[in-house]
Amino acid sequence: MSKAGIILAAGQGTRMKSALPKVLHQIAGLPLLGHVVAAMRGAGVDRIVVVTSPSGDAVRAYAASLACESVVQDQQLGTGHAARAAEALLRDFDGTLVIANGDMPLVLADTINECLKAQARTGLAMLAFQASDPAQYGRVLLTPDGFLNRIVEYKDASEPERGITLCNGGCYAADARKFFRWAAALKNQNAQQEFYLTDVPSIARTDGVNCAIAVADETSVLGVNSRSELAEAEEKFQQRMRARLLADGVGMTAPATVYFAYDTMVDADAYIEPFVVFGPGVTIRTGARIRSHSHIEGAEVSTGAIIGPFARLRPGAKIGEGAHIGNFVEVKNAVIGPGAKANHLTYLGDAVVGAGANIGAGTITCNYDGFTKALTEIGAGAFIGSDTSLVAPVKVGAGAITAAGSVITRDVAPDALAIARGVLTEKPGWAKAFREKKQKEKK
Ligand code: UD1
Ligand code: MG
Repeated sequence: MSKAGIILAAGQGTRMKSALPKVLHQIAGLPLLGHVVAAMRGAGVDRIVVVTSPSGDAVRAYAASLACESVVQDQQLGTGHAARAAEALLRDFDGTLVIANGDMPLVLADTINECLKAQARTGLAMLAFQASDPAQYGRVLLTPDGFLNRIVEYKDASEPERGITLCNGGCYAADARKFFRWAAALKNQNAQQEFYLTDVPSIARTDGVNCAIAVADETSVLGVNSRSELAEAEEKFQQRMRARLLADGVGMTAPATVYFAYDTMVDADAYIEPFVVFGPGVTIRTGARIRSHSHIEGAEVSTGAIIGPFARLRPGAKIGEGAHIGNFVEVKNAVIGPGAKANHLTYLGDAVVGAGANIGAGTITCNYDGFTKALTEIGAGAFIGSDTSLVAPVKVGAGAITAAGSVITRDVAPDALAIARGVLTEKPGWAKAFREKKQKEKK
């Protein structure tokens, strides 16, 4: 049976109090919407329609970047109304629909698969979960035989109903043709005067179709409606990621202090010290050690390399096997050869550093003239003296040495010594004479 998805993402997200649409807020460096799309794709849902608001250009652009289609919901009249907006594109689709809120970033492919399995039993299913704090989730009432009786939204619920802890997870699966027929019958007679998607199962029941329930764990259906729920989702995502990496053999002294991006790849037997932050696009190979307080994004760290403490790797940093990048060293768009070392206070931007080169403290690649970026090439085994400024484009040949404090403005031949600094003049006794003169003047 072919599958299509609808992701509801047209709500204003007013509780976020943000100019950014809610579904573009990020968890682990990926917008909420991206997490839901990834889970759906993982469950084999290839065609996905994202429902957006008229002002949702940024959401539509992001959806397109994920190869999703989008539709506009003219007015935000509720989740049922939103799902109906997708009918414009899916009218002729004859298969199973998965419908999910765009604000549930912790959903997994497995969670959606459970919903699909339940759907196969009756033709309609939803995800429910036991909430430790049911907050404002819709409350789920079951029939004696375990099907959904109805969902009561928090704002419509009586006090006893609010005491129910089985809640609606915001993900549904249904036969597509039937779903659109049921959704067309939705009414908005409720506290919010909205067309609730959650009323579809009651309509289906009058059509002789029971709504089956798949019970998900609370974490995977967490809904993000406010900044505090966003922070809670981030923490839960991090806990899940840390647990997975530890199980895969990654070493961490204090996992709770390490923050990963959604796509961070770390091999077994790499080690991460406390207080390290990863942005998107990072691969860490086995035997590498990331020392405390390092910040790493868009970078590859090869086997046995040592990064930090207090290092910053920016996009395009490729650190070779056994290389060392030490404290207060920033690397951007630069390939650092195997065994090369830049241990202190250095900026390497737009550079290629050969194997075994040694970059002295305070070395700076002057890669930007305010208009363009230029390349610095340092040959294998070169020794860059402390406080060297390399004015790019420039090449220092293999095995060459630059004298400390040099400003290198043209290429240096292999194995040469380049000195480019003021010549030291020494005036014997000058300082003492100066002090004596000044003291006399003071009296
Ligand atoms: C919804 C459910 C609730 C469930 C909870 C799970 C309804 C009526 N309520 O409540 O039962 O427990 O999710 O997280 O469905 N949206 C639109 N157009 C609209 C309104 C909303 O696209 O007109 C989108 C939002 O962008 C959001 C999703 O639908 O991604 C859910 O809307 P939201 O306002 O977050 O609903 P909840 O109050 O969380
Ligand atoms: Mg919500």
